[in-house]
Parts: sequence; C-alpha cells; structure tokens
Amino acid sequence: MIQKIKKINSVKGELKLPGDKSISHRSVFFSSLAEGKSKITNLLKSADIKSSINCFKQLGAEIEKVGDDYFVNGKGFGNFTEPNGNLDAGNSGTTARLISGILAAQKFNSILVGDESLSNRPMKRIADPLKLMGANIQLSASGTLPAEFYAVNKLIPVEYTLPIASAQVKSAVLLAGLHLEDETKVIENIQTRDHTERMLGCSIAYENGKKIISVSKANYPNAAEYVIPSDISTASFFIVLTLLAKDSELVLKDVSLNHTRTGILDILKRMGAGIVFENVRNIAGEDLGDIVVKSSSLNNIEIEKELIPNIIDEIPILSVAGLFANGYFVIENAEELRFKESDRIKSLCHNYKLLGLNVDEFEDGFRISGEIKNENVIFESFGDHRIAMAFAVLSSLLFEETEIKDFECVSISNPEFLKQLRSITE
Ligand code: S3P
Repeated sequence: MIQKIKKINSVKGELKLPGDKSISHRSVFFSSLAEGKSKITNLLKSADIKSSINCFKQLGAEIEKVGDDYFVNGKGFGNFTEPNGNLDAGNSGTTARLISGILAAQKFNSILVGDESLSNRPMKRIADPLKLMGANIQLSASGTLPAEFYAVNKLIPVEYTLPIASAQVKSAVLLAGLHLEDETKVIENIQTRDHTERMLGCSIAYENGKKIISVSKANYPNAAEYVIPSDISTASFFIVLTLLAKDSELVLKDVSLNHTRTGILDILKRMGAGIVFENVRNIAGEDLGDIVVKSSSLNNIEIEKELIPNIIDEIPILSVAGLFANGYFVIENAEELRFKESDRIKSLCHNYKLLGLNVDEFEDGFRISGEIKNENVIFESFGDHRIAMAFAVLSSLLFEETEIKDFECVSISNPEFLKQLRSITE
C-alpha cells in the first residue's frame, strides 16, 4: 500500500503510546512459561506480538484478551505440548531468537519458520551457543530459518561470552539456561538491552568492565501482573518530529526510561534537544516517566561505538534528526543494522540518495551531507516499519505531499502510527 504523507505545520498535545515491544514479547514469553494465571496491562497490540502469542498458544498456553488487558494461563516447567504444525515467528526477530532458547530445551521436536524478511536474517548466532549447550538444531544451508529443533533429554550449562552485542542472543541463552539446575552464565562486553535479566531476576556481577549474567531454574518465572511502559523506540519518531517542527511541544506519557534504551534521548540532548522528564518512577523493576519535548535547533555530534547497541532501533529516525541538524550526520560501528527487518544501511542510503543528498555508504554505517535537490520522490519502506516511520516524519516536515511504499509494515510495531500522527499535528 502506498501511503500519502501531508506536510504538517506544528506538533501540539499529549500521547500515550502502546507498550514497549521488547517488554511485551517478554511478558508473553514469561507468563506462558509460568504456571497459572498472569495479567498483562498495556501489551503492545501489533503483528510482532501476535507472532509471539500465536507461537505460545501452539505450545499450549491459553492467552485471551479481556477488554484492554491480556490474561495468560501458563503451562509451568516442562509442560509445553508438542506443536501441531510449524511455529511461525512472522516478521519478528525477537520471537524467533528468544523462542529458540525455549524450543532447544524441550523433549519434543518443533520447526520454527518466518516470513521472507525473517527467513533472510541470521540464526546461526543463536544456534551456535545453544549447540554448545547440547541442543540439536538444524538451520537452513544459509544459517537461517526454517530451524528444526530436535528433542533433548537435558541441556548442559555454559559460560558464554557474546561475540556480538545482541540482546536477542543473550536472551536465547538465558532462556535455555532457565531449564537447568546449574548456573548458565552469559558475559557481555558491551551492554545491550537488559529486560530479560531484569524480568527474570538474574544475578548480575561486573568483572573488568564485563557484565556477567547468571541464570538457572531458580529464575524460572512465576505467574505475575505485568504493566508495560510505553515504547521509547516508538516515541522516538514523535520526539524527533516535535524537535524539528516549528513552535511545537509534545508530552509523551509513561514512556520506558530503562537506561539500556535511553541512548537516543542522551544523544538528542547532546545535539541540543529540549527534552525533560517528569513524573519519573519505577514499576516492577523498569523505569518510566513522561517526556516533554520542545522544538529545538540541533547540531550533529560524534556517536560513540559503545552506544550503538543502545540506539540500534533508533538509528533510522536519528539520521532524520541528523539531516536537519547543523554539520553532517555520520554513523559507524553499526554493521548490525544490516541484519534488521531490512538492511537498514542500504534502505536509508537508498532513500537519502533519492533526495539528491551526498551519501557515503560504509560496511558499518553511512554519512549524509549536502543539500536536498529533489522534491518529488517516492520513498521505499523496504517492508521495514522503522524505515517507513522515519521517512513519514521526514516527509511531513519537508514536502506538501509525499508517497511511501508498502507503508502497512508499520503494523509490526505501531499499527496506530498515522492516527497518532494526525492527533498531534496541525
Ligand atoms: C531486541 C533486541 C535488538 C533490537 C530488536 C529487539 C530485543 O536486537 O534490535 O528490535 O527485544 O531483544 P539485537 O539484540 O539482536 O540487536
């Protein structure tokens, strides 16, 4: 579907955005693992979360929506049932990577599949550590889905140092480790989002600047009530829009302010953004608060390597902020962008080139400079929700009317994006 985006003048008002995608996935996972009834409030209702829900229903969990809340009747340790047919993770890398840690530990066989985009994304990074734990996993010849998981009697604990900074790889190992009496340890050189270890109450130690996360059956989740803060990655599109629009001010309510996710706010503030937090509090181990944003003039800055995992999902919209800021925008050390819902380095460079900008593509990033020379462009989303929303923000600031292809992909993380955009813009 081609979506037309109209120019806006200013942004005003307040938004309460849907639940954080990463925390939503994990609350579906953990409440399905736990025995008995859990309640989830403000669960993100999006295609990716539906993929997680459907997979766990197939494994025997009962999940129902009552009003705006979800109730999950989880199976308890060792009680998942062999799925009737393939488990389908759809477009969701988080579903596929995290559930692999659980499927690898089961006493039954299962097959995990995904859509075309997910079937091109690397799964060897997950299978490798799980195989060290004794899992029997067969990937496609190119190291991708479909993945076949064969029944195992028991896995063995490992100490695994992450070769890439990935919360999904970390989580897959931790979830497999939940099935073992003895401790499994995951060692991180660079901090990635920490929702899994936080929500499971894993013990954490630091040694020579490395983070060591320990997990065992003692961390197996119990039924709980989850209240999910709003998604900071979704909020970032509206934050950048407000910063760049004239005479604008926006309040975003109850947004996750987990320190492994707020890199985007730190960077924008260093660029000169008028962003303040109000009503900051902690609910069930996760920080959240209201974010107040005002129109600001921005300057590009250097973005440090250690921050990349923290801002990995926000780089598309951060590059839009960079385009409008003084100086040129450059991002490096971000090769992981090539393995997201699209090759985001390629996708972003393609669209910026359409505008006639100077674009230098590197293996691990890109640089944009120069002036916009072309107006009548049709942007490609490459079926990637974050590319679609980033160029919707850019379009609404620049041109009377712009078209973006395959815009329906926004339903992966925020089906209500256009409605929210219209509700706060004039
Ligand atoms: C996620 C981790 C990140 C992120 C993805 C969600 C998670 O992926 O890009 O959108 O919920 O664990 P990697 O950890 O593989 O970089």
